[in-house]
Amino acid sequence: MATTDAPDLRSALGMLRGAGELAEVTAEVDWNRELGTVARETLRRKGPALLFRNIKDYNGPDARCGQVVTSILASHRRIALLLGLDPSIDNRSLVDYVTRTNRERVTPKLVADGPVHENVLLGDDVDLTAFPVPHWHHLDGGRYINTFGAVVTKDPVSGIGNAGVYRGMIADRDKISMLLVPSQHWGRHWAEYLRRGEPMPVASVYGWHPVMDFLAGSPIPRDVCEYDVMGAYLGEPVELVRCRTVDLEVPASAELVVEGYISPDPDRYRLEGPFGEFTGYVSDLPTPRPTVEVTAITHRSSPIFRGTLEGSLPGASGENSYMSSVQRAAIAWHALTTAGVPGITDVYVHPVTNGTTIVVQIDKVNEGHAKWVAAALWSTGAALYRYKYVIVVDEDIDPSDYSAIDWAIAYRVRPGSDDIVVFPGTFGSPIDPSTPLEDRSIADLGSGLWNRMLVDATRTWRYPPQPQWGGARFPPTVAPAPEDLDLVRGRWAEYGFTGWDGGPR
Ligand SMILES: Cc1cc2nc3c(=O)[nH]c(=O)nc-3n(C[C@H](O)[C@H](O)[C@H](O)COP(=O)(O)O)c2cc1C
Repeated sequence: MATTDAPDLRSALGMLRGAGELAEVTAEVDWNRELGTVARETLRRKGPALLFRNIKDYNGPDARCGQVVTSILASHRRIALLLGLDPSIDNRSLVDYVTRTNRERVTPKLVADGPVHENVLLGDDVDLTAFPVPHWHHLDGGRYINTFGAVVTKDPVSGIGNAGVYRGMIADRDKISMLLVPSQHWGRHWAEYLRRGEPMPVASVYGWHPVMDFLAGSPIPRDVCEYDVMGAYLGEPVELVRCRTVDLEVPASAELVVEGYISPDPDRYRLEGPFGEFTGYVSDLPTPRPTVEVTAITHRSSPIFRGTLEGSLPGASGENSYMSSVQRAAIAWHALTTAGVPGITDVYVHPVTNGTTIVVQIDKVNEGHAKWVAAALWSTGAALYRYKYVIVVDEDIDPSDYSAIDWAIAYRVRPGSDDIVVFPGTFGSPIDPSTPLEDRSIADLGSGLWNRMLVDATRTWRYPPQPQWGGARFPPTVAPAPEDLDLVRGRWAEYGFTGWDGGPR
């Protein structure tokens, strides 16, 4: 039997509540568009995680599930808290912690039974609409049940499990149509099932400790099961139970699990899309796609449905944006280290780009250093949806500061030179609206096609040293001399400034 105080969604929510990072919404809210709009407006106001407890059509005495939680990971502060870190930790330390912990493993533990099997629905009792799955955005093609659900599959050859976040829409009371991209890890499993002409077993887990979402939504290497990494983050083995109708394992204290199979027969595909995607656009067209045919639903008593409002908008980025800003920076840093690229001093992903743009700060060791960085990043599988723009800056540019990046681009980049390099026709995102539709056909191309760009915003070494610049190749800046600054800061109080913030900068 599962341990009663093992980490799960409820323990995480308790922690967030205690830290003032969870708002419980008791006013009635409609699952149809209103809930998603409340989430967007809360993101814009930089608000807390939201637990909706009074959802229209799901607040009667017979409701199977009456609660939805969202926006758990929508701030660096909450991500740090949930990882057991100081909530005010700086980017470099947070990214460093994640880079290291992504590489640690704690083997999960199989237990005989757990709360997720308190309720088991089979046959005619299977009804996905019994759960308050939001219609998140008015242009979505339907009710998206898989937004932050971890989709569990197993490699039929190696037997290694995978948990990934892949979107899915309720296509019927017992069907979920999915965006199944062949180059994702479950896509590789799917390729083997297609070859064999067999249905692929799938289990979607909605609601467990948020480290599950944090890792399932990030590219952990294919030969590693995300459960092993979740255990490393939690400092204890993840307790798993066997599913009831598919040969897969899920966390014993998950809130809700949907089990089923995806048939290889294209006649059984159902329409999927469009969906308000992480790009901030509703750029996909409804397309018949692989569909989970549900064989069982299992859930805790009084389950909490876990979902997320996708889509970055300037000033109102969501959970995927914040977790990607940490994970995509950590994965990039690891890739750079593994490729032997020296002198990496910081890696920053501005949440609104989700990692489509990445800024790498270097202590430059050679004139080709920025190209080395870009080549290493573009050669990783993690670049599928990310790293379209790689901006490389020197050690004096804070990569989290847009004005510093802008200044570096303004005066360290020479358009028309190889400071800007375009790498055309690479594998890339099928949901980027800047790419023409024919270049993002997964069916034809296997992925989208991306032209990528490196902006080398470091000071060039190509200019000859100038004696007037103390032998440097690039001119000095207007920053005060350290001794002048020391003098002025030492005398600051004597200048008698009042009525404005005259404190030291
Ligand atoms: C909220 C959220 C939604 C996502 N939706 C999708 C999706 O619909 N399809 C997809 O291929 N990847 C999606 N991703 C990205 C994948 O989860 C990510 O690429 C991850 O690495 C996939 O797992 P894998 O590496 O084990 O394949 C999403 C990520 C997040 C955080």
